[in-house]
Amino acid sequence: MKILIHQTKALATDCAASLIAARLNRQPDTVLGLATGGTMEMVYANLIARHRAGEVSFAQATSFNLDEYVGLPETHPCSYWHYMREKLFDHVDIDPGRAFLPHGDAPDAEAEAERYEAAIARAGDIGLQLLGLGLNGHIGFNEPTSSLSSLTRIKTLTRSTREANARYFDDPQDVPRLAITMGIGTILRAQEVVLLAYGAEKADVVARMIEGPVAAACPASALQMHRKVTVVLDEAAAGALELRDYYEQVHPRVGETSS
Ligand code: F6R
Repeated sequence: MKILIHQTKALATDCAASLIAARLNRQPDTVLGLATGGTMEMVYANLIARHRAGEVSFAQATSFNLDEYVGLPETHPCSYWHYMREKLFDHVDIDPGRAFLPHGDAPDAEAEAERYEAAIARAGDIGLQLLGLGLNGHIGFNEPTSSLSSLTRIKTLTRSTREANARYFDDPQDVPRLAITMGIGTILRAQEVVLLAYGAEKADVVARMIEGPVAAACPASALQMHRKVTVVLDEAAAGALELRDYYEQVHPRVGETSS
């Protein structure tokens, strides 16, 4: 794992966006794996600014989002389809016909999960996978005790995840209980992974992910098995890392510059 610790969220966000832009510039038809949530909002705003400045194009890219709530149609304001259109797709040149999320309102959610997994495989799997990190160690909606070789399927959300996401809903009771999520095995097939985590509240789980044992109790720890993972942190999220000096020795200047 490459651990990049930046002084601020803004510098960390710029670093992650530059990794994505560089990949698209190197390989315009990259298959992107995309995430939602608060952390990604900053990344997408940065990518939109880069696109407007003529620095990056999504025109030949394909994207697959990690997850979607079961039961929410694309048009629901809390659906991830809606989030992605609002935060990214409507502001860049991605082909809407190649920007995919699971359909949360599919009549048979399990069949939809299987169809989605097959579509990812047919596209040649994910080239660059962007990930956030849940407070309980989830990636996508792979909650603790998820199989580390799981494929896209239905997961029941934990109370912790439903509470964390309640801020997007009028009534916390409205947060769906189930989601369709790429599996950990699906994510591990990606060529490269860029995971972002910000803030002191993520410091403990960041340390478990990077320095703890590989365990289903912390699904993100499965990334220790992946060949090419970059973890982009702000100072606060790096606060509980025992080997922080070492990471900063290996990448000494990331705290001072955005690259
Ligand atoms: C969302 C997703 C989740 C989030 C995670 C962090 O598509 O897959 O794993 O990335 O819950 O969310 P934030 O950034 O809101 O802390």
